[in-house]
Amino acid sequence: MAEKTSILKEQFLERLEKVKSLSDLDEVRVAFLGKKGSISELMKEMKNLAAEEKKAFGQTVNVLKDEVAEKIAEKTKELKEQEIERENNAMPEFDVSMPANLERGSYHPITLVQRQCEDVFRSMGFTVEDYGEIVTDYECFEAVNIPKHHPARDMQDTYYLENGQLLKTQTSAAQNAIYKKYRDALVNEGRPIKAIFPGRCFRNEATDACHENTFFQMEGVMVDKNISISNLIFFMKTMLSEVFGRDIKVRLRPGYFPFVEPGFELDINCLICGGEGCPSCKNSGWLELCPCGMIHPEVLRMGGIDPEEYTGFAFGLGMTRLAMMKYGIKDIRDLNGADLRNLAQFTE
Ligand code: DAH
Repeated sequence: MAEKTSILKEQFLERLEKVKSLSDLDEVRVAFLGKKGSISELMKEMKNLAAEEKKAFGQTVNVLKDEVAEKIAEKTKELKEQEIERENNAMPEFDVSMPANLERGSYHPITLVQRQCEDVFRSMGFTVEDYGEIVTDYECFEAVNIPKHHPARDMQDTYYLENGQLLKTQTSAAQNAIYKKYRDALVNEGRPIKAIFPGRCFRNEATDACHENTFFQMEGVMVDKNISISNLIFFMKTMLSEVFGRDIKVRLRPGYFPFVEPGFELDINCLICGGEGCPSCKNSGWLELCPCGMIHPEVLRMGGIDPEEYTGFAFGLGMTRLAMMKYGIKDIRDLNGADLRNLAQFTE
């Protein structure tokens, strides 16, 4: 009988050594201590023994049973400690040594150009303003000198809400609010108004490669004493040279916009042919990029600024156009499409 218990003990120790996890250990526990386990089975053999042998047998089996239970308890503790240690040393969720994930997101080309323009203007002391997409008729038209029935409205049909508000057709819609926001600082503290406001604009247009009903502009204004067209040319030239990464030649042609006087079309030297003349610039050597001008006295007055004392310039940069030129995008509709093969290639 003693032999049987020592064989059983050896078997137990052998299996215990191979245990790697708590679930392995539980299997061993059931195999030896369970109701139908080897030790319980051994106990059942007691009834076949002579009365004088029973006591010694019972004691031996009980010692074995206690030993097995103790060893299982020890092993359980050891395995739990190992588990905690493993968790503590587990790899961090972000493995910094992993190669770059090529599936990462990218910025929209217009966002890239917008941020670049913002950085350049910020570095020249301009504030970057945020403005809504839904505006009133007053903001979009009246306050920029386009009263009801003015023919300039014909070129800017848009989408109207039932309450009479509309989706803004031009970032010029923010001019009035900006003048009102900063006029006290201008008048009382002599701080010039220098602001840009990028934003999405809408027009009821038939779309083709050059026209979209949704596009981006960036408006800019500067108002102070003695602001002249030279200031306008300087800021525009600096900004465009930074964005394109080379010195850009500009020229002004007369242009009509009700909110500026005089008004201009600002052209840049064609980036494709360098001014020689090519199909992209219709052989003129120049590309029309940014309408601008000296702010109309009436527009300043509506913004609460005395035009006898202050002057300023304004410009409306076509940001969608700029992005197309910078990245060589030929069809404006690609910018509003969802094809990532087009849109994702410009993020560095
Ligand atoms: N808002 C005009 C448009 O969308 C562009 C424009 C022209 C803005 C001249 C200006 C400006 O600030 O001075 O057609």
